[in-house]
Amino acid sequence: MHKDCERIMLTEEALCARVEEVAKEVDVRYAEKRPLVVGILKGSIIFYADFIRHLSCPVELDFMAVSSYGSGAVSSGKLNIKKDLDKSVAGRDVIIVEDIIDSGFTLANLKALLYDRGANSVIIVTLLNKKERREYDIEPDYNCFDIENEFVIGYGLDYDERYRNLPYIGILKREVYEK
Ligand code: IMP
Ligand code: MG
Repeated sequence: MHKDCERIMLTEEALCARVEEVAKEVDVRYAEKRPLVVGILKGSIIFYADFIRHLSCPVELDFMAVSSYGSGAVSSGKLNIKKDLDKSVAGRDVIIVEDIIDSGFTLANLKALLYDRGANSVIIVTLLNKKERREYDIEPDYNCFDIENEFVIGYGLDYDERYRNLPYIGILKREVYEK
């Protein structure tokens, strides 16, 4: 285990098994479709790569990078698109793949934006859900794990751009972000 981890919350094995299970549920629903699978950079990359390998429907891949202005517990109310999609979503069935839903700000705004651009349908697939932190009226359609209100790293998730490459989800030691 990395020295900055308090403990491992989800092992590689647990992640692998649950991601497969959820991807197969999604796959059944899209059997007759050709979804555009939108990964939200950068946190979703490892989850995304594992998720799409369990889909048998014909998928197209695309990515967006977004950030919310301001930080801390209260979002300031504007989504900043740092990298937009390459493809048009008009008429498409979109699957948004995101690492974690926290306040819900990012996904509430993103879902509305993609519908505004003419998407036929938009669903949200998340790896982690911090339910008790929700401030916006949005829920994932599929979620792999509900977690407690702890700051987690690994399997794509970062603190200050670090730890994304850890193969498990770990709880970051408080002393790392409180110093
Ligand atoms: P929301 O817009 O408040 O739902 O925040 C979602 C974003 O916050 C995620 O895409 C992550 O980038 C970040 N985030 C929230 N909680 C964590 C965490 O525990 N570890 C790493 N990133 C987090
Ligand atoms: Mg993110």
